Amino acid sequence: MISALTTITDIVDRIRTGQITRIVALTGAGISTAAGIPDFRTPTSGLYDQLAPLKLPYPEAIFHINYFSHTPEPFYAIARARHPRNLLPTISHAFLALLARKNLLSFLFTQNIDGLELDAGVPAEKVLQTHGSWKTQRCHKCKVPYPDDLMQRAIRVGDVPYCLEAGCGGAVKPDVVFFGEALPERFEVEEKRLTGKGVDLMLVMGTSLKVAPCSRLPQSIGEGIPRILINREKVGDLGTREADVCLLGTCDEGVRQLADALGWRDELEGMWADAVERKEETNRRESWDEEGPTLEESIQKLTEKMKEAGRISQGHRRMLEQHLGAKFAHVLPRKSVE
Ligand code: APR
Repeated sequence: MISALTTITDIVDRIRTGQITRIVALTGAGISTAAGIPDFRTPTSGLYDQLAPLKLPYPEAIFHINYFSHTPEPFYAIARARHPRNLLPTISHAFLALLARKNLLSFLFTQNIDGLELDAGVPAEKVLQTHGSWKTQRCHKCKVPYPDDLMQRAIRVGDVPYCLEAGCGGAVKPDVVFFGEALPERFEVEEKRLTGKGVDLMLVMGTSLKVAPCSRLPQSIGEGIPRILINREKVGDLGTREADVCLLGTCDEGVRQLADALGWRDELEGMWADAVERKEETNRRESWDEEGPTLEESIQKLTEKMKEAGRISQGHRRMLEQHLGAKFAHVLPRKSVE
């Protein structure tokens, strides 16, 4: 469905005639749902609704550094079910790689940590994983890197890995950006390309635009520059400008519609098939032999474990103590600084 004065045909014509050559893309969890990873905020199926039985202080707490620092168990209980180790890129990831192959992709900001854009063939120098990735890990306290094989074992069994440095004892965290942590410095550098004359088209795919600072990127695009939204529903201010086009539906349907209009469909399907074959080969080499528990099973197991240990409130209590302690430090007797 097209819902703006600019039409997809206008944009397709400008791409085919070389008037649009510098496309900046912003992607979110919605382009990976077809790969089997639930997104975060879709009601019922989204991760945050699925976490309800854990009675977290609030759903995002599982990815907040303040909560993780004293209660890392919930994160590791679902880590295996969320880990991208055996996932395959979708045709939406392949479309981004096709834009890069045609020298039309200026830059890609992805909020996803699954690395599927890279698996699909988008060159690394053209991608910023704004929320980090699973690729590496380190102690969240002393920041000393942690061995990959030990991390893989911890994720496979759902145990919390702890720092190997004498006297530290901090929980190890993948290099994903938690709430309360800074984004990579490169974000501000690359964000500047949006405000200059360096963009002819912005493509926003599979994101609710609920989390800053990525949520502000589409508004940085100058008036009159076309913005295409491919998403189940309208988000942010997309669709409010004359040059906006909203393709409401699944990302995979949207990129196929664009590829058909551009005459790229066969090339896209072929590129996707090649990317899937490459990733299947990698998965055979690197995957973990047995299938792990599903997300639902992981949450169920942790709920029971934490109920037994009466630890649901413990994590919440620790967080409140830490929060209240900080808030009322001036009236409470000061603890010695460690
Ligand atoms: N096709 C199109 N749109 C989809 C699809 C799909 N197959 N699946 C989901 N969507 C849409 C949803 O309707 C929603 O608008 O994608 C969006 C996903 O939004 P979120 O679940 O909020 O994910 P995202 O925007 O990536 O979240 C941003 O929040 O929790 C943090 O760090 C996390 O990076 C994440 C950030």
